[in-house]
Amino acid sequence: MTIFVTGGAGFIGSNFVLDWFAQSNETVINLDRLTYAGNLQSLARLEGQSAHIFVRGNIGDAALTTQLLAQYQPRAVVNFAAESHVDRSIHGPEDFIQTNIVGTFHLLESVRAYWNGLEDEAKAGFRFLHVSTDEVYGSLGKGDAAFSETHRYEPNSPYSASKAASDHLVRAYHHTYGLPVLTTNCSNNYGPYHFPEKLIPLMIVNALAGKPLPVYGDGQQIRDWLYVKDHCSAIRRVLEAGQLGEVYNVGGWNEKPNIEIVHTVCGLLDELRPRSDGKSYQEQITFVTDRPGHDRRYAIDARKLERELGWKPAETFETGIRKTVQWYLDNQDWVKAVQTGSYRDWVEQNYSRRSA
Ligand code: NAD
Ligand code: DAU
Repeated sequence: MTIFVTGGAGFIGSNFVLDWFAQSNETVINLDRLTYAGNLQSLARLEGQSAHIFVRGNIGDAALTTQLLAQYQPRAVVNFAAESHVDRSIHGPEDFIQTNIVGTFHLLESVRAYWNGLEDEAKAGFRFLHVSTDEVYGSLGKGDAAFSETHRYEPNSPYSASKAASDHLVRAYHHTYGLPVLTTNCSNNYGPYHFPEKLIPLMIVNALAGKPLPVYGDGQQIRDWLYVKDHCSAIRRVLEAGQLGEVYNVGGWNEKPNIEIVHTVCGLLDELRPRSDGKSYQEQITFVTDRPGHDRRYAIDARKLERELGWKPAETFETGIRKTVQWYLDNQDWVKAVQTGSYRDWVEQNYSRRSA
């Protein structure tokens, strides 16, 4: 048996592939374009593992995906590949349209043709699992109920709009062609191998480098945090037992304002790697100009996944964030290797014009 993973060299995809091999010998075809966010070092533990077949390529390359599907005959496709950073989508939305919308469309077309050609049993067992985000639902007010699967779509950034479009395509391929799809919409992930353009790894990396910790606006925006390995276990569970055509929200009921996250990270670093001057890392916090169109609050209602498929997260925020900070302290080589020239250019582009 074989599964076909896209974007498996990114943050969540690499965690998913590593966890997969921790529990199974089933072959994984891992198709990743290796954009700035893709990193084979995150998969270094799999060197010599013949069941991991890495292919560098674009989900939008229909000839390539058609050939890979025909050659490896996977029983499932798990689609992680995407442009994923909201701030980058504000600076340059085109890549988001190309990969998240056009790329997903081409992948769906290749998969549909492959699935149509399968024998009855393989056809009935096949799954296309699309990994999506809570951001498609828009922004919540303070007292609003958490996002359920029936919440209307109200994406506010080019990133979330492009993910929303891909979700709609996946849904339509089920409704129109009967393609056996599953969609997961997850809240903010954190954990190992998280690229340091995102809030938590950026704060850890900047704190250790003695740099400012840039908090957008008033820092009171709320995100709902889930340890990445819990997201991976949810995806495995949905793949195994999800109802065809259904959507499952994934989250751990961990709503926190950004400023509280930054304080927690500083507190853990104060304990685990104190500053040489004896002061707290909190001294480095700097409030900067807000993100345009910044969503105020996300919160995921994950009761459907718990009720129907029995999934629950294993980590609390307290255990997960401690493991995460410790991972960054223990993996400084990985951190240094991803801080390339293009990473430094991005930091300059995103932060140099945000006044304090
Ligand atoms: P990431 O940016 O870390 O990784 C994306 C990966 O996709 C990279 O390895 C990149 O090289 C690859 N990729 C990009 N364009 C490609 C293309 N055209 N063809 C093939 N590969 C391509 O992203 P992530 O945080 O790991 O997110 C993975 C998925 O999960 C995305 O679909 C994202 O929308 C979704 N998601 C992320 C979060 C989160 O908190 N990070 C939460 C919910 C959902
Ligand atoms: O909710 C799921 C989404 O979570 C995923 O779909 C996205 O792929 C993922 O990137 C993430 O999006 P966010 O925009 O919520 O994540 P980010 O880490 O970029 O920002 C988290 C919050 O922290 C957000 O309110 C903006 C704020 N922030 C971020 C950065 C990078 C800061 O205050 N300062 C920063 O420097």
